[in-house]
Amino acid sequence: MKICTIIGARPQFIKAAAVSAEIARRKAVKEVVIHTGQHYDHEMSEIFFRELGVPHEKYNLEAGSGLHGQQTGKMLEAMEKVLLKEKPDMVLVYGDTNSTLAGTLAASKLHIPIAHVEAGMRSFNRKMPEEINRIVADHLSDVNLCSTITAMKNLADENLGKSAVLVGDVMYDCAIMFAELAGKRCDPLRRLSLVKGKYALMTCHRAENTDDKKRLTGIIDAINMISRKTTVVYPAHPRTVKFIGKYGLSLSKNVRIIKPVGYLEMILLEKNASVIITDSGGIQKEAFFYRIPCITMRDETEWVETVKLGWNRITGADSTKITASFAKFAGKKPPATSAKPYGNGKSAAKIVNYLVKLR
Ligand code: UD1
Ligand code: UDP
Repeated sequence: MKICTIIGARPQFIKAAAVSAEIARRKAVKEVVIHTGQHYDHEMSEIFFRELGVPHEKYNLEAGSGLHGQQTGKMLEAMEKVLLKEKPDMVLVYGDTNSTLAGTLAASKLHIPIAHVEAGMRSFNRKMPEEINRIVADHLSDVNLCSTITAMKNLADENLGKSAVLVGDVMYDCAIMFAELAGKRCDPLRRLSLVKGKYALMTCHRAENTDDKKRLTGIIDAINMISRKTTVVYPAHPRTVKFIGKYGLSLSKNVRIIKPVGYLEMILLEKNASVIITDSGGIQKEAFFYRIPCITMRDETEWVETVKLGWNRITGADSTKITASFAKFAGKKPPATSAKPYGNGKSAAKIVNYLVKLR
């Protein structure tokens, strides 16, 4: 069986690390990796292949950055050629990025079966580019591999129940797989002179936050206020660096803005933080895996379980709500829970077993 894995953005390299490792264990499956080139800086791409052992791509479509149509169009054109050449039995796509969309569109027009990892997530906000990508990917995929019961329900509501399979979340696999290695390979606390439990970790990159001056200003104001109480470490996505410059915003001295870090350093920065402040999908889940309170600077979340269990507060980009949530978490830790809404850390094996049986 030949599977073409299509990846292109940071979280997809991480998710693929778990699934590709599982594919490599099966003699009956051959994997060909196609990198769309959506992310290309060393610290947004190559670092994950190196440190997580993701098989390097056979093809890089070099789509680069651009407007949505331009970026997706470039990927689509190049992808079609590669898929025609490789003739895979199946295409494997991840998440909800433009790379997911292009991979799904190209494969469906060529009648190649598609399996979609992290299918069925919904924010019910069609202003998010990711929401459009997910809806199209789920509706075109033959197999929708779901992380949560919520995702299964979302697909059933769209009459896609027959294609949906509950496998758990591959990011939980990664969190378990790489935790020990992280401790052996790096020491970001020492590198950045941080003290365990004495700093907040922040990330921000969502288009709805970065591309809107009012929202980004609200976020930066809140972070500056929080930095009066604690050090804030901020591995900054290049998109946000660009907009902070464009809007002329500035960060206080106690906000340590650094380049994006590798996954192994990120695990340790997350685990040792007092609180995580983010608009990332993946990081909301990771905060929950490590039981670190999380403040989500979005108006809604797909990862509703983290909120229901008390570990995640949704604040939007409102500086008052962000700082109030920080104060609440500083005063009282969320309730302990042994709930496992994201599976048991064996999702990658479930995915590959399922796909192999389809042949
Ligand atoms: C994309 C995904 C988003 C995902 C995120 C993960 C879409 C629509 N969005 O958002 O769902 O959460 O990846 O990180 O697919 N840039 C660089 N170097 C890079 C990559 C990007 O400088 O290696 C800068 C460029 O200025 C680019 C901007 O970041 O225009 C945005 O990159 P892009 O891939 O279009 O979207 P992301 O915000 O990364
Ligand atoms: N991540 C990382 N280094 C960073 C920021 C994030 O390794 O500097 C990891 C993070 O731990 C998580 C994933 O990247 O596993 C999340 O990616 P991102 O926030 O870019 O995208 P999203 O999950 O929102 O789509």
